[in-house]
Amino acid sequence: MKVPYINLGLQYQKDKSEILKKVESVIDSGMFILGDEVSQFEQTFAKICDAKYAVGVANGTDALVLALKSVGVGAGDEVITAANSYLASASSIALAGAKIVFADVRDDFNLDPESIKAKITDKTKAIIAVHLTGRPAEMDTINEIACQHGIYVIEDSAQAVGAKYKGKGTGSWGMLGCFSLHPLKNLAAAGDAGMVTTNDEKTYQWLLKARTHGHKNRDECEFWSMNSRLDALQAAILNVKVKRLAEQTERRRAIAAKYHEAFRDFVTVPEDGENEYSVFHTYIIQTDRRDELQAFLKEKGIDSKIHYPIAIHQQEAFTSKNQPVTDLKKTDEQVKRILTLPVYPELTDEQVDYVIQQVKAFFAA
Ligand SMILES: Cc1ncc(COP(=O)(O)O)c(C=O)c1O
Repeated sequence: MKVPYINLGLQYQKDKSEILKKVESVIDSGMFILGDEVSQFEQTFAKICDAKYAVGVANGTDALVLALKSVGVGAGDEVITAANSYLASASSIALAGAKIVFADVRDDFNLDPESIKAKITDKTKAIIAVHLTGRPAEMDTINEIACQHGIYVIEDSAQAVGAKYKGKGTGSWGMLGCFSLHPLKNLAAAGDAGMVTTNDEKTYQWLLKARTHGHKNRDECEFWSMNSRLDALQAAILNVKVKRLAEQTERRRAIAAKYHEAFRDFVTVPEDGENEYSVFHTYIIQTDRRDELQAFLKEKGIDSKIHYPIAIHQQEAFTSKNQPVTDLKKTDEQVKRILTLPVYPELTDEQVDYVIQQVKAFFAA
């Protein structure tokens, strides 16, 4: 049996005719920039996140850059984030002109509040709390720390659409939430797309201008900004695909529950904590025998990945411009132990059972 890591083609099959009709209607209307499809998707998205406002942008990286700029992050500021994330959690800070400061993570892959505290200086302007793997970070503690120091919290919820912490959506806990709708994400466009959420009306109004050159109306520009709008064709596709998000999240969670049950005696499994509703963008186990297990699975036709094999503080883009960072003990330890197993909703029960059977066989041998 073959178990590919992902199957994007299959994802579109169920909705293909509705998607194609929608695409045709956008093309017929000629409404390619913003318009009804984008507004409709923004409203739906805000509800999913329990946020008041959502603003569609071109991708998750722009979402982070715009979020940082909206709270005034720039030269001379420091922003704390995690080094085990995708590059954009950190590159967005550099792109906003500020200094990247890495805090360590815990077993659950999310920022350790104690490490955040240790990294705060009088230059710290914001924390980017990543909900890595689709698992919510400890938002109430992070907000409390930020509040004590007068700094902003931005959620990097790129991997966590639909996740909840204490029953409330990620993207509604910080000053802003940033999402990616990249084809590999749980809610996936047919290309690049992103969203920013906020509960703050002023920030919302600023974002509407900031995503479109700083225009305050057709002819006047209030401030220099980028062109980063959610494409209307992507919004139309997302308006169809979003209808399946809750069902697909439940499917991801059901697969994860089976994996937990089957693997918890052999490896560290990413089981939800008390206040967490994770959406399992990725299912990452931790084991000292990672490389051997990955090779074994490959031989058996099962694809797995490593998210991510090089932590951001070890990337040339960072090391060529910064002093070495040597105090991220957990982050450095996890890089060698993490393995991501397939967890997408289109996996058949037979494929899930086959993954379980093979992982068990590896550890039994
Ligand atoms: C945690 C995280 N942050 C930010 C991003 C950036 O999103 P995008 O690829 O849409 O720019 C991604 C996805 O790639 C991500 O996984």
